[in-house]
Amino acid sequence: EKGGYEHFMLKEMHEQPKAVKDTLTPRIKNGDVVIEELGMTDEEIRAIRKIFIVACGSAYHTGVTSKYIFEKLARIPVEVDLASEFRYRDPILPENTLVVIVSQSGETADTLAALRLAKEKGVRTLGIVNVVGSSIAREADNVMYTWAGPEIAVATTKAYSTQLIAQYLLAMKFAKVRGTVSQNDFDAMIQSLERLPEQISLLLSHKENVQRFANRYLAAEHVFFIGRGIDYAISMEGSLKLKEISYIHSEAYAAGELKHGTISLIEDGRLVVAVLTQPELYKKTISNIQEVKTRGAFVMAVTTVGNTEVEKVADYVVYLPETNPIFANSLAIIPLQLFGYYVSIGRGLDVDKPRNLAKSVTVE
Ligand code: F6R
Repeated sequence: EKGGYEHFMLKEMHEQPKAVKDTLTPRIKNGDVVIEELGMTDEEIRAIRKIFIVACGSAYHTGVTSKYIFEKLARIPVEVDLASEFRYRDPILPENTLVVIVSQSGETADTLAALRLAKEKGVRTLGIVNVVGSSIAREADNVMYTWAGPEIAVATTKAYSTQLIAQYLLAMKFAKVRGTVSQNDFDAMIQSLERLPEQISLLLSHKENVQRFANRYLAAEHVFFIGRGIDYAISMEGSLKLKEISYIHSEAYAAGELKHGTISLIEDGRLVVAVLTQPELYKKTISNIQEVKTRGAFVMAVTTVGNTEVEKVADYVVYLPETNPIFANSLAIIPLQLFGYYVSIGRGLDVDKPRNLAKSVTVE
């Protein structure tokens, strides 16, 4: 059942190229993004004034990423909410709001309650769901399925990757219809998307390097992940992956926030993972790396090939293949998933079933 892999998580990480492809390919037709199940006319898409993305955990992290992408490409304001917060804060949902609910299981109690609240308020809802026929899939006005297939490991990997793809496609569709993206840029994005599966495979094939590095940090007590913009969203997911399966305390910080408190926790030998995939922010994050290095941190950087400046400041660098920076999460998350996985098994833990956690959280 594990297809020759030692754990479901390892198997599912390796299924990501296929899961991404299966979620992407049916929705790209003749160089265009076609999402029939969206059930919205171009006129309806143009009328949307605001988008809420509501989810829990890793699914929420995909929403944080796609906020940057939606706002950049389609120029629509996006709010991202944790479902458990959204449902109790009496959210303001004007007409022409679209509420996007993201869930692998389609059964997460808070996420389902958030969907019901949005429907009660009379706004349009769209589910991005992996489990076919689940509660969220049945109750949302429309549902866009992610085609990750069954995910068994508690820590999500392939479902996360497909949730990102679904939201990239959605943002591109909105941008195209609203005329906020040029045809040239759009065509280049399609090409970048189509290269992702192969690029993910390449990163997976370097897993032994990540393992070797992870083995040096099995006894870490605290790990900090830093980044800016989309790199901050990637940091959140990288940090969650590590902590939930390794039981090592880790936190993600917006790199610019470090000096507002967190930097006091940096001391000799502390591991800091820096994510740099957004070229316009490289310089800023590099200066944050210097700040933690000065205080004795050991820095692992995940960055895009060509950013050789990072080598001058970081201790260990993982290079990602070139892509459109808006899609960088899909690549940067791979070494971070692998890092969490190898730290967990290196510590002898039950990586597929971490303590206290359930795959589907059906109670609030
Ligand atoms: C972390 C993880 C969780 C889920 C969260 C939402 O690896 O898997 O944080 O992302 O519980 O679950 P779904 O997507 O089923 O609503």
